[in-house]
Amino acid sequence: MIKLLDSHLYDAGIPDSLRHLIMYIARAGKYIDHAIKTGDLGVAGSSNLFGENQLALDVLSDKIIEDNLKICRLVSHAISEEKEGVMECNPQGKYSVAYDPLDGSSLVDSNLAIGSIFSIFEGPGFEGRTGRNQVAALYLQYGPRTTLTYTVGKGTHEFTLNDVGEFSLSRESFKLDPTSKYFAPGNLRAAKDNAKYRALVDEWIDGGKTLRYSGGMVPDVNHMFHKGGGIFAYPPLAPKYPNGKLRLLFECNPFAFLAEQAGGAAHNGQMDIMDIVIEKPHQRTPIYIGSKDEVKKVVERLGSNQPS
Ligand code: AHG
Ligand code: MN
Ligand code: MN
Repeated sequence: MIKLLDSHLYDAGIPDSLRHLIMYIARAGKYIDHAIKTGDLGVAGSSNLFGENQLALDVLSDKIIEDNLKICRLVSHAISEEKEGVMECNPQGKYSVAYDPLDGSSLVDSNLAIGSIFSIFEGPGFEGRTGRNQVAALYLQYGPRTTLTYTVGKGTHEFTLNDVGEFSLSRESFKLDPTSKYFAPGNLRAAKDNAKYRALVDEWIDGGKTLRYSGGMVPDVNHMFHKGGGIFAYPPLAPKYPNGKLRLLFECNPFAFLAEQAGGAAHNGQMDIMDIVIEKPHQRTPIYIGSKDEVKKVVERLGSNQPS
């Protein structure tokens, strides 16, 4: 008997409004999936806040999600990784949503897996809150198959898009082992000057671990979710990325919630990712995420090298 996303959310006992919001997001994901498979992948000619080139798909994915968050009328505030400010949607909406419409956009042309990431808060806005205030987090991965993985604080579950456009349960309450043989060393450039990061990478190599790194956080974290564990690191590198590259609101918080709900951990060298107070929309943070003991080991090895 197949289990569909809507029915799984219903069984989770969450408010109907949150269930409807997640279903609208799932719907946006289907349109993005279709655009990836059928659309023009050329450069759109605009650049985002950080001077990175936006591909046409970034712009399109952003618009598809924004439209869905507005038409569902359940969202008071939304913020996209591709836009500077917080968007005010329906003042009566119960939820605020932060999203990365297309993570791994530089991988589009080479046809590697990419994704969309969502972090949902109850109530208006983001600043002054922490990731612990998330009521749901989810991501879609657009690969050979399209999957949607969500948590509402009752485990982490994966659904696969089927031929008739429904998300059907593929993995329920999956768990990460405390240790793992897989490592994903993001920002390896930092190892040039950061002796502690270099020593850590050497320790992973000498320990016989297996490298799995695609350059897209969605498939890289999704890989460890499928293999029962792993460690993904994205340390800082001054002067360009003194706090790392990845964004607290759009990438780190939602993945931290999903990982913790699978028995894993996510830390920035100073504290759990979900305890960081949100001060500004595009705040960045180093991140070490995955199997609990692997994260602990990274923090022990790198701790004093991290920015406050
Ligand atoms: P985005 O495409 O949303 O800007 O994010 C890409 C991110 C993330 O997916 C990945 O882990 C990281 O960028 C890799 O960046 P570098 O290759 O620059 O280290
Ligand atoms: Mn991203
Ligand atoms: Mn992005």
